[in-house]
Amino acid sequence: MLVNRALFELCRLSDSLEGDDTFHQRRVCIISYELAREIGLDRGALSLLVRSALLHDIGLLTDSDKTETFRQIAYEEFSSLNRHAVLGGKVARFLNLHLDITNAINLHHTPHEENSSVLGNILFLADNVEIAYRSLTNPFAYDDLIGYLEQKKRIFDPSVFDALKRVAKRECFWFSLLEEHVDDSVRRIIDELPDDRADEKFETALIYLLSFMSDNVAPFYDRYTLFVKNIAVNMGYKLGLDSKLLHRASLLSHVGNLKIPYTLFSLPSLDEENYNIIKSHTFEGFGILNRMGFDREAELVLLHHENNLEEGYPCRVKPEGESAVLALATVVAAIMQDRPYRDAKSDDSIKKGLENFKELGIFDGELIDAVVDIDLNKVRETEDEYYNATKRLFT
Ligand SMILES: [Fe+2]
Ligand SMILES: [Fe+2]
Ligand SMILES: [Fe+2]
Repeated sequence: MLVNRALFELCRLSDSLEGDDTFHQRRVCIISYELAREIGLDRGALSLLVRSALLHDIGLLTDSDKTETFRQIAYEEFSSLNRHAVLGGKVARFLNLHLDITNAINLHHTPHEENSSVLGNILFLADNVEIAYRSLTNPFAYDDLIGYLEQKKRIFDPSVFDALKRVAKRECFWFSLLEEHVDDSVRRIIDELPDDRADEKFETALIYLLSFMSDNVAPFYDRYTLFVKNIAVNMGYKLGLDSKLLHRASLLSHVGNLKIPYTLFSLPSLDEENYNIIKSHTFEGFGILNRMGFDREAELVLLHHENNLEEGYPCRVKPEGESAVLALATVVAAIMQDRPYRDAKSDDSIKKGLENFKELGIFDGELIDAVVDIDLNKVRETEDEYYNATKRLFT
């Protein structure tokens, strides 16, 4: 896994929660990069800046009130801008990124006078440019945009503002900000910069961050992927399978839900069209994880709604090995929880249901035997320090 690639994908995900893409952080990344090059920052600093920009609003993903979606919370949080900046800085530290990135994110809403970070000052102006850009009815009305920012120019670092005026004369800068070009433009920037292989700490933190985000798409999903992990890892040990892979894939299993409009999760029943949208969380998750560099986990996540009868979705194939374990663990974890269309099942009725699965041949008997004697209370109660640490980031 390469760090910048993974951060780019995380950025795309947090820019486009519930399928509604703002492009904000990716545009801030492009604008920051062009400003910094114009000022003459070296490649090391450019790399830190790009990472800061891609992550700068990640702190908007708070879980201050689980009855609301991330997006709704995001708008509310704008009333206390610095809170999300500080939270974002904490997330950067959690991901084991450079301290300059934490500082830049912390200061991305702090005017020049009080802003001691070179990267923070660039981010601050780039953020303002992007927000002003989005309010333009004509995306080529650059003069209006620069004129508007001129009025509040004293809050920006003068050298960065001068760089903006020079950059703004180039057509290619504005073309790169158009929706259809944003992703290619960020990719070009990433390809130009040195990237490094993710260390274990980064990967683990990213996995828990994604797990926590996906468990917050709706209140009844609370700790869902944690339950999946507790079940799948236990089964993996018994069956002599790769428990580390199961641990990671379980926590990542529902990252695709972040792309689904949240209102669908609360419907008491689904028509075919909406059910198909819900089903796409498998494919969305596969794509996100693949692009991040979680190749093996992506394969398992793609197949987590398949079964032996080849009547699952989205590929209608029989899952094998770790894929089959994840598929069964997600079913068991789901029926342990309430959903809008049904209540949670009692532990006894879950066990009976599993025996039924065995008789009908939905999953292999060996798999059912591995899950049927798991103490489900332990699944509910087993704490995970890393998961708790992720939760504390946002509270
Ligand atoms: Fe922000
Ligand atoms: Fe922002
Ligand atoms: Fe699922």
